[in-house]
Amino acid sequence: MIAHPLGNTGARARSDGAKAMALAKTVVWILALVPAAVLIWKGFRQELGPNPIEYITHATGDWTLRLLLITLAISPLRKILRFPQLIRFRRLLGLFAFFYGFLHFLTYILLDQFLDFPAMLQDIGKRPFITAGFTSFLLLLPLAATSTAGWIRRLGGKRWQQLHRAIYLSAALGVLHYYWLVKSDIRMPVFYGAILAALLSARLLLRRAPAK
Ligand code: HEM
Repeated sequence: MIAHPLGNTGARARSDGAKAMALAKTVVWILALVPAAVLIWKGFRQELGPNPIEYITHATGDWTLRLLLITLAISPLRKILRFPQLIRFRRLLGLFAFFYGFLHFLTYILLDQFLDFPAMLQDIGKRPFITAGFTSFLLLLPLAATSTAGWIRRLGGKRWQQLHRAIYLSAALGVLHYYWLVKSDIRMPVFYGAILAALLSARLLLRRAPAK
């Protein structure tokens, strides 16, 4: 059978597109793993400062919040840049936010609290910044668990989207957690809070705009 020349061109363009997407995803994987690799590298070289646990807690907390905000920026950016393919990175970025949140949580329960669960429960109940961080992390759990195509099908697109709006609440609690824990210099949590407010506003303004 002789293939149609245009058909071949279309198939080649599709395969080039798939290759470019696979390459772009590999780059995102590598970039998202850099902060964890830097921590491991510094750990081996004993360059985590005088308080390594604090250093790891701060680095993983920062990256959880940054990746949550980057994930939230995908939707408005794909509309503003008229680049609908960006949406294909959202799930990956969201899962990396969860990954760093999990490392942050692990640092707390293993290195900070030494698996002392009664003390941890007391800490969560007593210190408002820990309550906010813990709630923010809890909200991420169902989102990470239902991030697969199978769960989108099972829940139905609309219900899945409603559930995944909780990422805004999780990010807001992450900002509050940060704001409550800093003692005097509130510049960074306020900066992250302003980005979150801008992203929420962009979401509302662009709600009806097409993705391309
Ligand atoms: C299980 C939940 C969590 C616990 C127990 C927890 C605990 C902590 C602790 C103990 C600190 C260090 C406080 C200090 O040095 O005074 C911290 C810092 C931080 N956490 Fe969390 N956290 C949790 C969840 C989260 C989540 C979900 C986010 C992001 C959305 C987050 C973002 C941050 C940030 C940005 C910092 C400050 C980093 C810095 O100072 O550079 N945390 N957290």
